[in-house]
Amino acid sequence: MNSSNRLDNLVQRVRHALAEAFGVQPSALVAAPGRVNLIGEHTDYNDGFVLPAAIDRHVVMAVHPRQDDLVRLYACDMQASSSFRLGEIVKDDQHTWSNYQRGVAWALQQEGYDLIGMDVALSSDVPIAAGLSSSAAIELATAMAFQTVSGLELDGVARAQLCQKAENEFVGMRCGIMDQYVISMGQRDHALLIDCRSLTYQAVPIPVGCQVIICNTNKPRALVGSAYNQRRLECETGARQMGVVALRDLTPDDLATHAPSLDAIVLKRCRHVITENQRVLETVDALPQGDLARVGALMNASHVSLRDDYEVSCAELDAMVEAAWDQPGVWGARMTGAGFGGCTVNLVDADHAAAFAREIAPRYQKRTNLEPDIYVCRAEQGVRVL
Ligand code: GLA
Repeated sequence: MNSSNRLDNLVQRVRHALAEAFGVQPSALVAAPGRVNLIGEHTDYNDGFVLPAAIDRHVVMAVHPRQDDLVRLYACDMQASSSFRLGEIVKDDQHTWSNYQRGVAWALQQEGYDLIGMDVALSSDVPIAAGLSSSAAIELATAMAFQTVSGLELDGVARAQLCQKAENEFVGMRCGIMDQYVISMGQRDHALLIDCRSLTYQAVPIPVGCQVIICNTNKPRALVGSAYNQRRLECETGARQMGVVALRDLTPDDLATHAPSLDAIVLKRCRHVITENQRVLETVDALPQGDLARVGALMNASHVSLRDDYEVSCAELDAMVEAAWDQPGVWGARMTGAGFGGCTVNLVDADHAAAFAREIAPRYQKRTNLEPDIYVCRAEQGVRVL
């Protein structure tokens, strides 16, 4: 199924569900994409550089305003409901999926925005728990829904920051800004170079003739929350010991100078982040020149660094990446997202894309006994009202 058919299906589904569940027609339809990160992993919370793209897999919401402060949610894919009052937002321990919507409402109100209640039906084809930011897509769709229904003035960066605040302070995951930023601001056929310190970006075209292919290991992500927070702490320790605000402020030479005084684990974590920032900037130089061999080599080096220094890969991610490295027409392959399972991202010559998608699955399956999913993707626009 192509991407516009997939989106149409989701729209029909949520329209129908809104009528069935709440007896109303939508006043607005909102779509927020998932995301894939081409390079720049675990750099965002170190004030560094990332190069993600929004992808043509979406969370879609049909919304209808209410006269009171009630928010009623119906999740089509789970056939589950949850509701809350804007005047009294607490976590729902039973329907944990609704904590993203609750968190966004909470964060908007914390910033002083006046919200009105709404009825919402949602459905998604962003794979869940696969490292493609299905939860950030829900956050951004929710923010856009409130923005539309309540008539709020909110620019794309502010919207991303509010959604990050919801995730950090309400949901309790200390993520960086990358996912929310690119889902808010993504551009079709482009990746975004985001400076996570200044929160500015540059749109970088994905060269014609190469295809972004995502391979889902279908290894459920484990330990991701605790290990993620632990990595953050190790980076903060390194920055403090080297006397800088964030690892963004250091070069590999600086690190070499400080290396003897650092704990071995902290040194490895810092080496990943500092070299990864450099790889992002080199990628952004090489892409417009069409130097895909260089881009691919940088992606491969990123994987090795995440595997050996940052230690966030796993056997299944390594198997998928190694299977890709052996395929003809593959420029580069690496794990993408937080790690410990989830997906890999592959930059593949367009003429080899179909063969790649066909061949990689049995090779991976032979090594792991897991059946993978393969998504041939297009870089997509960020959150929008349809
Ligand atoms: C998760 C987080 C992001 C980022 C990546 C790793 O996706 O939500 O902020 O830190 O992991 O690059």
